[in-house]
Amino acid sequence: MIVLGIESSCDETGVALYDTDRGLLAHEIHSQIDLHALYGGVVPELASRDHIQRLVPLTQQILHKTGLKRGQIEGIAFTSGPGLAGALMTGALMARSLAFTIGCPAIGVHHMEGHLLAPMLEPETPPFPHVCLLVSGGHTLLVRVDGIGQYRVLGESVDDAAGEAFDKTAKVLGLPYPGGPHLAKLALAGDPESVALPRPMLNRPGLDFSFSGLKTAAITELRNNPNLRKEDLAASFEAAVVDTLLAKCKRALKQEHLNALVISGGVGANARLREQANVMCNKLGGQAYYPRLEFCTDNGAMIALAGALRLAQGQSTELDLNIRPRWSLEELSAIH
Ligand code: KG4
Ligand code: ZN
Repeated sequence: MIVLGIESSCDETGVALYDTDRGLLAHEIHSQIDLHALYGGVVPELASRDHIQRLVPLTQQILHKTGLKRGQIEGIAFTSGPGLAGALMTGALMARSLAFTIGCPAIGVHHMEGHLLAPMLEPETPPFPHVCLLVSGGHTLLVRVDGIGQYRVLGESVDDAAGEAFDKTAKVLGLPYPGGPHLAKLALAGDPESVALPRPMLNRPGLDFSFSGLKTAAITELRNNPNLRKEDLAASFEAAVVDTLLAKCKRALKQEHLNALVISGGVGANARLREQANVMCNKLGGQAYYPRLEFCTDNGAMIALAGALRLAQGQSTELDLNIRPRWSLEELSAIH
């Protein structure tokens, strides 16, 4: 079954063609980073307008790349939530119109399920059950994954998401938006042990996270010590976030008696996080799994894959524009 995937929940327009027999055929991503950089964050109305302009040409581009005709698309998967309402509407509208003209089913996909399943686009796929750390600009979740659609949230951030903490700290360091990757680059030239920063909530039981205090501590250090090297603060901040994330991953793996860990979402591209997760999982006799870097951040391929698995089981959603800007992962149905 050939499925077109459409992602438009935030500031990336992603489209992909996925074949349930042959795997990923093609994908394209257009990032709106330059559009929003001027404002230091995503401007929802600008995001929606840009998605509208990009969706059709990007889809034509991947059809051209694969030599497929529009009528050969057998199903359409689009992100129906969570995300920015206006941005979600553009992808939903495109998916609905196209499905109607082609006469194929369409399905609304949960954006976080896309991130959770993204490692399945790689040759070596994670075993079930496993624990997934989903770390993006909007979410920090620890999820037990027993199968497709079988998700139990073990812990989450009570305030800022990890990516948000990276971005806000990076902004104070004078780095461009979104600051996560820029801060990580700066950290390479710094000493991660130079500034003592807290590892929040580690002395308390449970699997929830909190990053707002850590971000404030980092910003206060910078304001109080004008001579502090930015590289050192970046390295110390990155180390504190990575230590905190991995301490909770280890706790979750032990609690669930598992040793397979998936890390996905934008912050999952962080090299220090990946290196240290590999070491931790090896010590536990298990393994860490990741999507390739371009599928850590938002993309159409993960939506095409998640939707294809459901469409292939005969699932589809009604022909209306039912977007869900707020939506819990635990409401999804299992696929057997
Ligand atoms: O998954 P994503 O593309 O968007 C959301 O759904 O939120 O994640 C974007 C987030 C941003 O906060 C960005 O700064 C962060 O991921 N990010 C990183 C790195 N690459 C992207 N954070 C730390 N280190 C990186 N290498
Ligand atoms: Zn995302």
